[in-house]
Amino acid sequence: MREEHWTSSEQETRALARAFAGQLQRGDVVALVGELGTGKTLFVKGVCEAFRAQQHVSSPSFIILNRYEGKDQSDRELLIHHLDLYRVKSLDEIYDLGYEEFFYGDGITLIEWAEQLGDLLPSKRYEVHLSYGEFDSHRRIVIESFRTPLVPVPSEKRAGTP
Ligand SMILES: Nc1ncnc2c1ncn2[C@@H]1O[C@H](COP(=O)(O)OP(=O)(O)OP(=O)(O)O)[C@@H](O)[C@H]1O
Ligand SMILES: [Mg+2]
Repeated sequence: MREEHWTSSEQETRALARAFAGQLQRGDVVALVGELGTGKTLFVKGVCEAFRAQQHVSSPSFIILNRYEGKDQSDRELLIHHLDLYRVKSLDEIYDLGYEEFFYGDGITLIEWAEQLGDLLPSKRYEVHLSYGEFDSHRRIVIESFRTPLVPVPSEKRAGTP
């Protein structure tokens, strides 16, 4: 899946993020990639609105990780993890956060400056690329979904076959 969108206001970006949140499932990871001020945090705000997370969403400048409590469509509690890796200097800082909980747990994880993760980024993920348009309030937002490629295992290599 690859979609290209253009928005011309903060409100439109939030609305796009709310609509995008409709396809998110528990355990999903969303990598947000884009220069300073392109709207990554606003996109997170929109996703949080969709999950009715009431807490104040902010770019965690000094904190790497924020957590918000929201609700899914069936009113079950849903945890949203919001990471901002702008200031992360070493992957050790991410290991220290216990990244497995949010990458492979049953909440939703949104990561600003996700490119800092390198190989730690799960292969099943969404990527949201934000960039500036011609006018101050224009943004180009490309949303892509990556899934682990299903490589068929030849029968002679399957476990249990002689
Ligand atoms: N179409 C638009 N979509 C999103 N934000 C917009 C748009 N037009 C203008 N803006 C402004 O751009 C800024 C985006 O800020 P935001 O904090 O979301 O960016 P960011 O990518 O998270 O930045 P940082 O890299 O510093 O974390 C806001 O001030 C917002 O009002
Ligand atoms: Mg931000």
